[in-house]
Amino acid sequence: MAQDRPLNHDEMVAVLDWYRAAGVDIAVGEEPVDRFAQRAPQRMTPSPAAPTRQQAAERPAETPVLGGDPSEARSLAASAQSLDELQTILGAYDGCGLKLRATQLVFADGNPEAKIMLIGEAPGAEEDRQGKPFVGKSGQLLDRMLGAIGLDRTKVYIANTVPWRPPGNRTPTPEEMALCLPFLHRQVELVAPKVVMTLGGPAMQTIFSTTTGIIKMRGKWSSVAIGNHTAEAIPTLHPAYLLRNPAAKQQAWRDMLSLKLKVEALGLA
Ligand code: URA
Repeated sequence: MAQDRPLNHDEMVAVLDWYRAAGVDIAVGEEPVDRFAQRAPQRMTPSPAAPTRQQAAERPAETPVLGGDPSEARSLAASAQSLDELQTILGAYDGCGLKLRATQLVFADGNPEAKIMLIGEAPGAEEDRQGKPFVGKSGQLLDRMLGAIGLDRTKVYIANTVPWRPPGNRTPTPEEMALCLPFLHRQVELVAPKVVMTLGGPAMQTIFSTTTGIIKMRGKWSSVAIGNHTAEAIPTLHPAYLLRNPAAKQQAWRDMLSLKLKVEALGLA
């Protein structure tokens, strides 16, 4: 039964923690607003004519971006001449709304000289706290997976498709990913890895420009252009998925062995 008394301090902190974990971390007003009671605004102008088939076909195929300006992101990213510069530019960039709710930028971890790059999806709560990718539970599993094939963070470079934690650990939206993509492309160009491993579906779909599912694509090598850099790339399952579905570790293990063979074949180990 609901208690009709004010919350005490500990209860209020618990409610705020719960809100934060659910991604509700900005107060937008003092009072709740009943949106159902608000009338839909009257349209003052006639709706624009539907595009002709030819106009629709001529539209750029780019994902529409709400809020930020992708051409600004592209020119900012292109201006970075080093990873340090890119990190500074990204830290000052306000075009992607994810930044508003994140504690800090999660740029990269590992060795910027490495020839092997891993790309995950987005920082989680622990990454957001520490400012480094893959330092939570899935990061610990990733370290064990790397260790099993003789790699560690001194031999790989790790980044994410978006460098800020999405509220409540939701998957970044296509618009958020599209805004961050020029920065990831530049990061890959500057690291210039010979081999890239993507972790999980969203990172795979971003890097391989595909809508195919991870289960179908994982474990298959292809030569992929990432920005102006081309690398041999393989998708595998995300460590967070493996924590939830331990039976799938068998498939991930095959992908790790395949990575090991590729690394040896290219003389990178
Ligand atoms: N999951 C990711 O995809 N990236 C991280 O940095 C942490 C968890």
